[in-house]
Amino acid sequence: MTTQVRGVQLARLLGQWHALPGRRRSPDYAALAGAVRGLLADGRLPLGVRLPAERELAEALRISRTTVTAAYRELRETGHLASRRGAGSWTMLPGTHRVASTGLWTPLDDRDMIDLGVAALSAPAQLVPAARAAAEDLPRYLGGAGYHPTGIIELREAVARGYTERGLPTSPEQIMVTSGTQHALDLVLRLALSPGGGVLVESPTYPNALAALAARRARITTHGLSDDGWDADLLLGSIRQTRPKLAYLIPEFHNPTGHLMAADLRERLVGAAHAAGTDLVVDESFVDLPLDGTPLPPPVAVFDRHSRVISIGGMSKPYWGGLRIGWVRASAPQVQRLAAARVGVDMASPVLDQLVAVHLLDQAPAIVTARRAQLAAQRDALVATLAERLPDWRVTVPCGGVTLWAELDGPISSALARAAEEVGVRLAPGPRFGLDGTLERFLRLPFTLPAAELVEAVGRLAAVRYDLDRAGRPQWREPSVIA
Ligand SMILES: Cc1ncc(COP(=O)(O)O)c(C=O)c1O
Repeated sequence: MTTQVRGVQLARLLGQWHALPGRRRSPDYAALAGAVRGLLADGRLPLGVRLPAERELAEALRISRTTVTAAYRELRETGHLASRRGAGSWTMLPGTHRVASTGLWTPLDDRDMIDLGVAALSAPAQLVPAARAAAEDLPRYLGGAGYHPTGIIELREAVARGYTERGLPTSPEQIMVTSGTQHALDLVLRLALSPGGGVLVESPTYPNALAALAARRARITTHGLSDDGWDADLLLGSIRQTRPKLAYLIPEFHNPTGHLMAADLRERLVGAAHAAGTDLVVDESFVDLPLDGTPLPPPVAVFDRHSRVISIGGMSKPYWGGLRIGWVRASAPQVQRLAAARVGVDMASPVLDQLVAVHLLDQAPAIVTARRAQLAAQRDALVATLAERLPDWRVTVPCGGVTLWAELDGPISSALARAAEEVGVRLAPGPRFGLDGTLERFLRLPFTLPAAELVEAVGRLAAVRYDLDRAGRPQWREPSVIA
């Protein structure tokens, strides 16, 4: 099935396509082709969609048709576009690309890239001993078929204990183990949302959550976060007014901004959701990672009396993403329904990986304490080097999580990402975290790499940022509204 992207849609996605490094040196058609390649690489423009006809795009961008014709020709030559006379042109990628850990497309030979597109730590030293201990435990499970749709009991007990210790009494029957938090979200959406259902999300938000929502054809509305995080009146007001079927929120060290939702808003949020008939899906991916001794408010589900809150979380951020262990906490009947749904997807999670998770959770205090210290030091190094090398960028220092949300000195995020790729730094530009090509003034910077790499990456970014300036800053325009 081919979908068609219309001229106005592509123009909106292209946003500041003029703001390219070396703009003075490269003609318009090359800048336009480069911008389309950038959209393809970061997933905002899917593969296999039909691009608008040349004349339509030229009108939407208010440029000459010759420029679009030349840009399309270049895209065909670089393997990013396939055309058939009379039938149109489709997006594609040259065979020299693969999907990177971020879900973004990357050239096959990018091994030396400093990857700031991914916000996750490498594995802790305790992982290999935990895997050995898990292998020792495995014989206990080998007498059965090995399918445990809700997860093995010892892991469900350990996860339930974690919630209880956070002040939310939880039984193992309320836990379902999944293959990561993303899988948990996908399953919850399958169960709780019919196609076309209304969903409220924060803006910015986690891009793969947007992808999961798009797969369910959700009708998305957004709550814009400010420098201070959520605006209580606006958030509760939009739940009351739009009565979405579901709201997906990240209250603990929100990805990408790092904000932490206060306890009183959590309580009011649950009340408003109940009154509006809205289910709350609360993503607790970063709950283990407060920094600087920041105290944690109670889990959102503490305020839930009506099974309105479904909490999802996992091992990826405090422990290791490669484990692919996550979970859902919901009412016991909801867990049973989710388990029935997951049987039609992946049957169950691997027993061995779950046993590794049990051993890691046994050592949670030591592992998590070390992670927090490491992240705080890396965050401080990143903030210091940004202040020195890119002093015009505005950064709010987060008190937890793994990411900074920097406000740039212009709507240049996508252009900067394309330029950074040339000097070996991968970025996830601001628009990936929103809808419709907005957030060009923002950039997410994770502090999950060692400090020396962060400093090196920022040095390279400062150099290409300077290049963008020379490339014709006065030509930036605010996105024009095309009705
Ligand atoms: C908010 C949020 N949810 C979910 C995920 C996916 O986590 P997992 O690796 O557990 O699937 C991430 C990973 O970055 C995340 O930031």
